[in-house]
Amino acid sequence: MRISIFGLGYVGCVSLGCLAQNGNNIIGVDIETVKVDLINQGKPTIIEKDIDDILAAQHALGRIRATSDAFDAVANSEVSIICVGTPSGPEGHLNLEYIYKTAAQIGEVLKQKKEFHVVALRSTVLPGTNMKVGEIIEQTSGKQRNVDFSVVSNPEFLREGTAVADYYNPPYTVIGSDNDQAISIMKEIYSPVAGTVEIVDIKVAELIKYINNSYHALKVVFANEVGSVCKKLGINSHEVMRLFCLDTKLNLSPYYFKPGFAYGGSCLPKDLKALQTLAHDYYLNVPVINSIEASNNISKNSLLDLVIKKGKRKVVSWESVLRPVLTIFAIVLLSM
Ligand SMILES: NC(=O)c1ccc[n+]([C@@H]2O[C@H](COP(=O)([O-])OP(=O)(O)OC[C@H]3O[C@@H](n4cnc5c(N)ncnc54)[C@H](O)[C@@H]3O)[C@@H](O)[C@H]2O)c1
Repeated sequence: MRISIFGLGYVGCVSLGCLAQNGNNIIGVDIETVKVDLINQGKPTIIEKDIDDILAAQHALGRIRATSDAFDAVANSEVSIICVGTPSGPEGHLNLEYIYKTAAQIGEVLKQKKEFHVVALRSTVLPGTNMKVGEIIEQTSGKQRNVDFSVVSNPEFLREGTAVADYYNPPYTVIGSDNDQAISIMKEIYSPVAGTVEIVDIKVAELIKYINNSYHALKVVFANEVGSVCKKLGINSHEVMRLFCLDTKLNLSPYYFKPGFAYGGSCLPKDLKALQTLAHDYYLNVPVINSIEASNNISKNSLLDLVIKKGKRKVVSWESVLRPVLTIFAIVLLSM
């Protein structure tokens, strides 16, 4: 397939090399001429294991080239993958300036293009960006979304340092789309890549990267807080976390991962409180462990607000109904 890649930084450079290695013809685009020149010499714009050899080989085969001319790239490709940067602004908001500029550039070219074109958003962007990119392309091209072109969300999960290996072995390939033609084109592109292809709603595809990365950050922080408790008690924290990870039934599993109501019962609140108190007694600062209960209370209160809003005076709590029934059942069983 003929593919153009906008942004030749980390994600763009790896995608360019790996997609070419899979037999595609790639045109890279960047506003930095130094990056364009490097690709045109068959050299990477980043330092990353294996990428030098891949680019040298694909350059020799004539499968890769780069330009700073968006017209050349879009006119000579069926799919444009956007990998431009999305840095944080001064107040932490996402700066989507480069994404929207790229969308306008692609739209300008599509004005003159007859064939159906797929635009894939590979950069990490917040929900709603896909729709906005589609609107920009419609305005600049005068063409219609899902008739003349389509915008799909296709987040990247690679990690710097293992980027090439991660490209070929992602946890899954996510395609957020509302168009069957675009889905089949994207599926073909990723057919040589390991793992399942997950076709999902566009906003799900846009959000998942943020959820994944926030959870990864939470894992690191949680393990470090466990580490500080262990250190104070003279316990081997690596041994504790090894055992923790061995439990793939409740710890590292889909269990407890369905959004819904707060946790309750007797054990979770009691044992969490005990760990919090232990840390407090040792003057340990464990803000993540300490904030779990507060977050749980927010879930409880939001349910209470919902019940109050309904204005009903009689409310049944299933736990209060089920517990006495189960207790009586157990007493009957024991006395038999
Ligand atoms: N680096 C990672 O490990 C990683 C992993 C997954 C996802 N991501 C996401 O992918 C996106 C790109 O990240 P990156 O690390 O490759 O960024 P980067 O800063 O390394 O590269 C971005 C490139 O886009 C170019 N660019 C900006 N505007 C352009 C335009 N109009 N046309 C063409 N090129 C333009 C820049 O010159 C730069 O070379 C970000 O949204 C990032 O969050 C990054």
